[in-house]
Amino acid sequence: MYEIGVIPGDGTGPEVVAEGLKVLKAVSDVTDIKYNLTNYDFGGEKYLKTGEILPDSAIEEFRRLDALYLGAIGHPDVKPGILEKGLLLNLRFSLDLYINLRPVKLYPGVDTPLKNKGPEDIDFVVVRENTEGMYAGAGGFFKKGTKDEIAIQESINTRKGVERCLRFSFEYCAKRNKKKKLTLCGKTNVLTYAFDLWERAFQEAGKDYPDIERDYAHVDAICMWMVKNPENFDVIVTDNLFGDIITDLAATIQGGMGIAAGGNINPQGTAMFEPIGGSAPKYTGKNIINPLAAIIAIQMMLDFLGEKEAAMFVEGAVMNVIKNNLKGMDAGKMGLGTSDVGDFVAKYIRDKK
Ligand code: IPM
Ligand code: MN
Repeated sequence: MYEIGVIPGDGTGPEVVAEGLKVLKAVSDVTDIKYNLTNYDFGGEKYLKTGEILPDSAIEEFRRLDALYLGAIGHPDVKPGILEKGLLLNLRFSLDLYINLRPVKLYPGVDTPLKNKGPEDIDFVVVRENTEGMYAGAGGFFKKGTKDEIAIQESINTRKGVERCLRFSFEYCAKRNKKKKLTLCGKTNVLTYAFDLWERAFQEAGKDYPDIERDYAHVDAICMWMVKNPENFDVIVTDNLFGDIITDLAATIQGGMGIAAGGNINPQGTAMFEPIGGSAPKYTGKNIINPLAAIIAIQMMLDFLGEKEAAMFVEGAVMNVIKNNLKGMDAGKMGLGTSDVGDFVAKYIRDKK
């Protein structure tokens, strides 16, 4: 019995989470997977009503869960930074979810903005370090609000933090068993402290994985290659901020936020899975948002729980919906409502039996 915590969150979060859970139910109907859901109403609404974002008691409860499933966080009436730091980053840091795993896969039938590129060219994974770097919150103001003010924002890179992320990436690349190539995305020509550490740790750890080719590219060049030759990539590993930036670009070439999912993982503990798009307030309640990213987040969760076959059922069903039922990926352009998409995915999973 898997214990799963659900945070539907803000905006379209609850709508897409409902579809993901519909799919999870279908999976459990055709397999012997059993689970128990606990709902948590954290998000912008709750914060505006009670001032509470994410109490420590909830974090303690989350530690006992097998996984968390999150819709979206972000509310138009809450100042930027409050929910992001108080909820999302707090979750990542407190539960030490040090891997942010973002698969980038163009499914047949999905449009990519890249000319002459198809599903055979766009299939890689970005591993983003998820607890350090520029996100650690180190720095501060000096003489804030005066004409002499100074703002310092530092990047924290610990040997331990970098190395565990690199080792996860080498192992992931070996298990993935595709091109067996791990690309470190850095900026060794300018960030000569942070990425010096990354690069040394990369080369040293890499000796333990002789089957994996070690490749390096600067972050700016990665942005260019991702557009020109995405087929060159297998697994990319990078720090927190670069990972944040390049995965929005990557999501765009795989068909957009409607289909991009990610996992925030502690390989020795719990994990949180989410569609990586935001709360999309303007689409809320219209039944037009694409739930596939949230459904793929369920697929990733099943995979993390070791339910490989169930994860494959979900992926197969998603591919069938794209091929047979969907007209487009963007909100309002699917030719189907949000809930119809979930119904179709669930139906394909049940038909499989
Ligand atoms: C993401 C998001 C977050 C991040 C924001 C909402 C804090 O953009 O998960 O990529 O920057 O990590
Ligand atoms: Mn981001």
